[in-house]
Amino acid sequence: MNIIIVGTQWGDEGKGKIIDILSSQVDYIVRYQGGNNAGHTVVVPASPAGGGSKEYIFHLIPSGILHPGKTCCIGNGVVIDPAVLLQEINGLKKAGIRPGGNFKISCLAHVIMPYHGKLDQLREAKRANKIGTTGRGIGPCYADKINRCGIRMGDLLNPKIFKEKLLDNLKEKNEIFKKVYDYQAFSFNKIYKDYLGFGRELAEYICDTQKLLSKAIANKKDILFEGAQGTFLDIDFGTYPFVTSSSATSAGACTGTGIPPVKMDKVIGVTKAYTTRVGEGPFPTEFAGEFQKIMRSRGKEFGATTGRPRRCGWFDSLLVKEAVSINGISELALTKLDILDELKAIEVCVAYKYKGKLFKEFVPDPEVLKGARPVYRQIPGWQSPTAHISQYKRLPAKARSYISLLEALSGADISMISVGSSRAETIFV
Ligand code: GDP
Ligand code: IMO
Ligand code: MG
Repeated sequence: MNIIIVGTQWGDEGKGKIIDILSSQVDYIVRYQGGNNAGHTVVVPASPAGGGSKEYIFHLIPSGILHPGKTCCIGNGVVIDPAVLLQEINGLKKAGIRPGGNFKISCLAHVIMPYHGKLDQLREAKRANKIGTTGRGIGPCYADKINRCGIRMGDLLNPKIFKEKLLDNLKEKNEIFKKVYDYQAFSFNKIYKDYLGFGRELAEYICDTQKLLSKAIANKKDILFEGAQGTFLDIDFGTYPFVTSSSATSAGACTGTGIPPVKMDKVIGVTKAYTTRVGEGPFPTEFAGEFQKIMRSRGKEFGATTGRPRRCGWFDSLLVKEAVSINGISELALTKLDILDELKAIEVCVAYKYKGKLFKEFVPDPEVLKGARPVYRQIPGWQSPTAHISQYKRLPAKARSYISLLEALSGADISMISVGSSRAETIFV
């Protein structure tokens, strides 16, 4: 079974936790887009006996890496900052987990260079309408890929080709830095030396992952395709221009790994029981005032990558219904239900009102989204703890009504319910 996991909102839905859990059922776990703008949190028992817990935050390495015997790949659709990747590998080694023959990096994945990160930050500082990027060089790296001047992981293993490409890039980029941003030039020698070094350190992992995965499928192996970000950060279908620069929807799993659509069996959407967003852009159901702070603190909603406070709001069924349609989602994994435990009443957005018009479906028009007033359906809260409940029937009746309402509004069944960050705090419906 080949399963694609996608975020149905603006990222941080809890994909890391769900991927970690589903990893036990597959042979391969593959990241297919994004870069170290992603932060996927996995909480596992600190010891085999189950005492205490240990948190890992993955930016590039697939969230399945903690499962021994599974092969983890970074696909061609990902953009890789090799320094960050090496840090992540070394962090795992310190924790006693050794990515070896079971860890692979596509030779076709593009490399985030130091000038990408700087360009991202300088552009953002100059912009009148800021996007609120993570400043990790994601947009400029994907732009070079599309511009056909990017440097790929395989190039780091070939000093002659790498030299030619880097010289070409620096010639143009240093002019831009000087003339547009009044910023110092990047030194060829330093980057050349550093990145050939990164190439040498990562060489054992770099290969043709498309062939590897293709053969795995021919041998009836099961693959989990790990999406980063979320549907509304997708470069095409997201709330453009407040999006990331890759295809975060399920279709990205095909172009980002080279596995054709006909080989995909299922798409699971991960959805938070409320909504969050980091960075700028429209957010119709965003909480106002003190309640924003209360919910952010209850949900510990601070970015896993940049530490920025996440903006929080009510569940927006128009978003999730749209995500179900765009991604071909047949099942949803609902996360962070426990964060709503104490609420007296819960609102669910069922429509938008804009200039006297009622919208019952998501509208991609940024003007409408910016001015949209949400129409809510209120339901009573369950006001009792749900963490540590492991059976659906043991959930409070009002929590079950909330779940049924979300299923009816979004048009997909909820097959997993997460009521805490650890593996054990999960209900399989
Ligand atoms: P991702 O980017 O989609 O993988 O999500 P993040 O890891 O950035 O953010 C999700 C956060 O919520 C992490 O800190 C998780 O440990 C935590 N989390 C996931 N599921 C649950 C849940 O059901 N309840 C609670 N309280 N926390 C959760
Ligand atoms: P995961 O995989 C939440 C947001 C940034 C910004 C916009 C563009 O953990 O869900 P970029 O640096 O990508 O050019 O920034 O996208 N963003 C995310 N928000 N979770 C993420 O990843 C994100 N990756 C990017 O905050 O608004
Ligand atoms: Mg995240």
